[in-house]
Amino acid sequence: MDCIAHRGFAGVNPENTVQAVRAAASAGADWVEIDVRRCGSGELVVFHDATLDGLTGATGSVAATPLETLQSLSIGDSDAGVPTLAEVFEALPGGVGLNVELKERGLAADCLAVFDRYDTEVLVSSFDADTLQAVAERSSVPLALLFANGPDAALDTATSLGCAAVHPYRRCCDAGFINTAHGAGFDVNAWTVKTETQADRLAALDVDGLIVDAPACCRS
Ligand code: G3P
Ligand code: MG
Repeated sequence: MDCIAHRGFAGVNPENTVQAVRAAASAGADWVEIDVRRCGSGELVVFHDATLDGLTGATGSVAATPLETLQSLSIGDSDAGVPTLAEVFEALPGGVGLNVELKERGLAADCLAVFDRYDTEVLVSSFDADTLQAVAERSSVPLALLFANGPDAALDTATSLGCAAVHPYRRCCDAGFINTAHGAGFDVNAWTVKTETQADRLAALDVDGLIVDAPACCRS
């Protein structure tokens, strides 16, 4: 069962940072999940929220803030700033995949240009079908549809997009759903696993991957 480090094991590392990506790989993650959006000077950066307030001492939106400023910020109480997508690829050791979650539209072409520069295995995920469609129209990179409710409709959407995987919120996972998803040919990677009890329940359901906040929640 794949261990996918959510934001680079956000429960134990400063999330979505180069430091977290390196630490997650060292801790045995098979994949690292990161969130991507575009900053004010146009580069692709790795940051979850649309605004800076919750995770840094700064205010304002990522979309309006230039890269130079983002790189000078500190994530949480760490000394790590906001990295570019390329910097995350550079930090990732061989053999560890990157699950790139696209947080907004209009990123596909620039993301694919970055992916092309590295040998890293990539899985692109998004809650937004149009965002995945934009990637599908330009490449054969494997896709995963994220969803938090409506599992039947999500499977239909994932089928029409040609997804390789579905990424359900963990509470959407029961034996019936996993069976149907597997029958339709999808891998199932559930998010976000925060406790070992949650991990054990999902592992017993035979999911393919766990998107987890800490190494202790990985299951083999
Ligand atoms: O990719 C799984 C998970 O990251 C989706 O939710 O809000 O943590 O990006 P979020
Ligand atoms: Mg995410």
